[in-house]
Amino acid sequence: MLLTHPNVKPKPFVKWAGGKRQLINILLSNVPSSFNRYFEPFVGGGALLFELQPSKATISDINEELINAYSVIKDNVEELISSLKKHKNTPEYYYFIRSLNPKVLTPVERASRFIYLNKTCFNGLYRENSKGQFNVPFGRYKNPKICDEENLRAVSRFLNSIEITILNCDYKKTCELAKSGDFIYFDPPYHPISKTASFTKYNRNDFSEKDQIELSEIFRELDKKGCYVMLSNSNTDFIKKLYAGYKIQEISANRFINCKANKRKKLNVEVLITNY
Ligand SMILES: C[S@@+](CC[C@H](N)C(=O)[O-])C[C@H]1O[C@@H](n2cnc3c(N)ncnc32)[C@H](O)[C@@H]1O
Repeated sequence: MLLTHPNVKPKPFVKWAGGKRQLINILLSNVPSSFNRYFEPFVGGGALLFELQPSKATISDINEELINAYSVIKDNVEELISSLKKHKNTPEYYYFIRSLNPKVLTPVERASRFIYLNKTCFNGLYRENSKGQFNVPFGRYKNPKICDEENLRAVSRFLNSIEITILNCDYKKTCELAKSGDFIYFDPPYHPISKTASFTKYNRNDFSEKDQIELSEIFRELDKKGCYVMLSNSNTDFIKKLYAGYKIQEISANRFINCKANKRKKLNVEVLITNY
């Protein structure tokens, strides 16, 4: 079922809010031992996808720039690498690239702009203003790795070595494709622990409590269909109530509890919910 690669192991090619690398071993140990296709409808940086390396996968995200980048890495990685090598890490150049309208660029230029901004912007955040324009300031990093050739090629090889469907759509559409025996991993924008503690705004559409309720209904439908379903979210009473009756594990993760980087603490801030 799982493919192994003799080459470099692929890893997320963007820094992404909610990235799962810290919890990857816990996630891996909770994956069902066998399943048909792998679905990741909120793929983001795809940490579990790259770690698990399933042989059949459907990934999707509502973020158009991100999904375009996955497709370009799969189909046109060498052109992308050449384009990434041309970027400069200066504020003037950054704000010029940021000001470009991605919709008028070619898919390669668009992916190149997206990865460049991700590597050089402040904190690697993805944030848009009300008009849908990326609005994160320049990050002032000394030597950001704008073009990680080795990893981009590894990601490309991996995406070409499996049967994969890459979609830019709402997670509900992706879930309609799942059938009995498939494994779905949901890593949605988290329910905020407090109004200011969490970052759930990835684009113009907030993920509200109503969205969390709808997602839990879809989780139940997939369960009834005979799918294996796993979901990450924050450890709040609201979330635990929504998934009552399923296996809920509390997971500790390092989290900033203070604006100072050295004030980190292990907190039971997340839950991992499975129907198996
Ligand atoms: C918590 S992040 C996923 C992080 C990812 N697992 C990783 O390792 O980087 C949530 C993702 O959901 C996407 N998203 C938000 N609302 C969505 C929706 N309605 N349908 C599909 N994707 C959505 C965001 O663009 C974001 O990439």
